[in-house]
Amino acid sequence: MQYGYFDDDAREYVITRPDTPFPWINYLGCEDFFSLFSNTAGGYCFYRDARMLRLIRYRYNNVPVNAGGRYFYLRDKTAYGDVWTPSWLPMKSVLDRYECRHGMGYSVISSACNGLAFSQLSFVPLGDTCEIHKVTLTNETNAVKNVDMFSFVEFCLWNANDDMTNFQRNLSIGEVEIDGSCIYHITEYRERRNHYAVWAVNSPIDGFDTDRQVFLGLYDGFEAPVTVFNGKSNNSVAAGWSPIGSHHIKAQLAPGESKTYVFILGYCENPEDQKWIRFNQNDLLTTEPPTKYEDGWLKAINKKPAEDLLQKYNTPEAVDGALAALKDYWKNLLSRFTLDPLSLPRHGDKNMARMAGVWNQYQCMVTFNMSRSASYFESGIGRGMGFRDSNQDLLGFVHLVPERARARILDIAATQFPDGSAYHQYQPLTKRGNHDAGTGFNDDPLWLICGVAAYIKETGDYGILDEKVPFNNDEKLSDTLFIHLKRSFDYTVTHKGPHGLPLIGRADWNDCLNLNCFSKTPGESFQTTANYESGIAESVLIAAIFAFVGYDYAEICRRTNRIEETEYAEKEIAAMIGAIDQHGWDGKWFLRAYDAYGKKIGSRECNDGKIFIESNGFAVMAGIGLEDGRALKALDSVKDHLDTKYGIVLLQPAYSEYHPELGEISSYPPGYKENAGIFCHNNPWITIAETRLGRGTRAFETYAKICPAYREDDSDLRKMEPYVYSQMIAGKDAPCYGEAKNSWLTGTAAWAFVSISQYILGVRPVFDGLLIDPCIPSDMKGFTVTRHFRRADYHITVDNSAGVEKGVKSITADGKKLEGTVLPVYGDGKIHKIVVVMG
Ligand code: BGC
Ligand code: NOJ
Repeated sequence: MQYGYFDDDAREYVITRPDTPFPWINYLGCEDFFSLFSNTAGGYCFYRDARMLRLIRYRYNNVPVNAGGRYFYLRDKTAYGDVWTPSWLPMKSVLDRYECRHGMGYSVISSACNGLAFSQLSFVPLGDTCEIHKVTLTNETNAVKNVDMFSFVEFCLWNANDDMTNFQRNLSIGEVEIDGSCIYHITEYRERRNHYAVWAVNSPIDGFDTDRQVFLGLYDGFEAPVTVFNGKSNNSVAAGWSPIGSHHIKAQLAPGESKTYVFILGYCENPEDQKWIRFNQNDLLTTEPPTKYEDGWLKAINKKPAEDLLQKYNTPEAVDGALAALKDYWKNLLSRFTLDPLSLPRHGDKNMARMAGVWNQYQCMVTFNMSRSASYFESGIGRGMGFRDSNQDLLGFVHLVPERARARILDIAATQFPDGSAYHQYQPLTKRGNHDAGTGFNDDPLWLICGVAAYIKETGDYGILDEKVPFNNDEKLSDTLFIHLKRSFDYTVTHKGPHGLPLIGRADWNDCLNLNCFSKTPGESFQTTANYESGIAESVLIAAIFAFVGYDYAEICRRTNRIEETEYAEKEIAAMIGAIDQHGWDGKWFLRAYDAYGKKIGSRECNDGKIFIESNGFAVMAGIGLEDGRALKALDSVKDHLDTKYGIVLLQPAYSEYHPELGEISSYPPGYKENAGIFCHNNPWITIAETRLGRGTRAFETYAKICPAYREDDSDLRKMEPYVYSQMIAGKDAPCYGEAKNSWLTGTAAWAFVSISQYILGVRPVFDGLLIDPCIPSDMKGFTVTRHFRRADYHITVDNSAGVEKGVKSITADGKKLEGTVLPVYGDGKIHKIVVVMG
């Protein structure tokens, strides 16, 4: 069943009933202030860091699910129904109409009940650190309506971890200040914080509440606030316990009349020496330090930044202007890669257009902003930016924001150690490596090469290689980015095991293949524990990644005239491929690893885990076995053993028991996560690998299976948002086979976009220009892509009336026949018409 539909022209997903199989969310914010916003107004927001500076409280894993948000309660005493929440939750109100539109950086919830229409437009404006909620009430009856509206947010005491754990302190420190229609949340502002939150509305109010217990009632939940039923605020002033912000507005609406209110939830900072204003009996104000004044002066928080912010969005027109600017921003971003739906006449391809052209890229930007920190599955208090994650995410957004990708690369590289290894994660606020997660994931260094190569191919900016970047964030240890890449490359070269394959360390891409962990203690972290440093366990996947990114490294060396280094790199790649040939092939597929005893993993000799997806995808991506048929065999084996209706599972047979020598992978019940779940991230590796074999129909099939839009009408089973990828879909061994989980923050977004845009549609940035190399189903008659690339726009039409899967017969560029398949770098700010004929 479907719970909504794509409005492709508006670039919105329209949810038509509120009781979706899981909260379906959107992300608001593209700079420093971010919000998670569900289709029932649930979620929370934060300034920069979801753990340290969270404005409102959200209760993860609560009963019922999705507790906390920015809620509005309506009360119409003359109407049947009396009190309701127009966003459906938290009261689960029976609404006459309901719709939620999630767009690019904004959401609109509209509903009607008791003859009163409600709409809530929510977004984070560019350039400011706040959520705007424009709320409109419309009387749809013929009689005058007297409505009470109550707003509601519950403040988080900033540090989200502390907020949910340190109650002995927190229940005594909550503080607020109220000034007219503005409620200020000022907990800890008296001491070390230089920031506060403001929850305000641009109209006079008829009352307020800031004490949760008073507003809700101690034994009442969000679904039954006593104050709303009473129809009157209490003007409560929170002191300790749990501060909230609630406005009471009495609205009288003539028949047909609408009234609009602008609510702002903002984050404001003051310089340390201007935190307070002081005033005396004559109302003289000053922000100067107290010592200069005699007793008798009163103090209040300096509200200037809040007042400026509120002033700016004081009217619905100002809000509409800010929304228009946001829409322009997205229109511009998404114009960098478009796929014309009209050029795709095949049934089902509209899903390809809406995903590749809009939602997949949108999700890539969300992963750029969030890494793996804050989603409905990531609490925002754990992981920071992942070294490998952020490098891979970059593949999906580098064409959208190349300048920001550049800055990101330099941040990531600064967390690398001088020996080439890297902190596995770093904190976005401080940009420092995370000591808890530490280092030792031996695939990490190689992803830096992967990210930098993608950046250079996109931009042609070799200058980045000369940037001086610290190691381990220590300026004294700075060297050029090129040297960082070299250390990455060398790290693998110098960390090999008995078969000449790379040592796996704590784990490789598969965080759950913990071959040196041997954990027997419940609760111990599989990722950071090493009870047994074997110095033996090796990864065939890292070997394949090395070959794949190694070619790019060698090419970068060649193009920057580092001839000796090029030769050295080529020699090492050849040696690695030799090791894979000799020790990484199992007869019908590539092995996955050798464990700490030197035993094979991912081999026909194993009882469980005979074949894995990752090494097969990456080896073929690197071109290994293309000549001698092993690549073909490997991908056929993947199809035979791992493919399912909903995507390709990570391994088979699933581990049925816990194996200390394998680690977390065998801790999951069969069919979940890394233990034979459909771990979507590496399905695109198979898609890309299939294009290397030229099997366009199969490549597309693997693409479409995990692509959420294709399963829109299967939402009862799939459960997650049909407009974004999920990290995992339960595999065939799981009771809930086909159910997706962990939507939004996953490397799947970037790799899916790479697979569709660069390998299926085949518009691929390479060092020299834009390579045209489509590999599509034979019954796909063609398509049109526009691509912004190095300061020019390429309007590319591909004609496949020949009905082939791969092969370019001819290309004309601006009417002239082009030799080869690489479009030149025009760099002239103009539009160029490219016609490609397959055959
Ligand atoms: C998950 C992995 C994840 C790892 C590190 C494991 O529990 O299964 O997907 O990468 O934790 O956070
Ligand atoms: C999720 C992690 O974010 C990613 O880094 C890892 O590669 C996958 N899980 C697989 O374990």
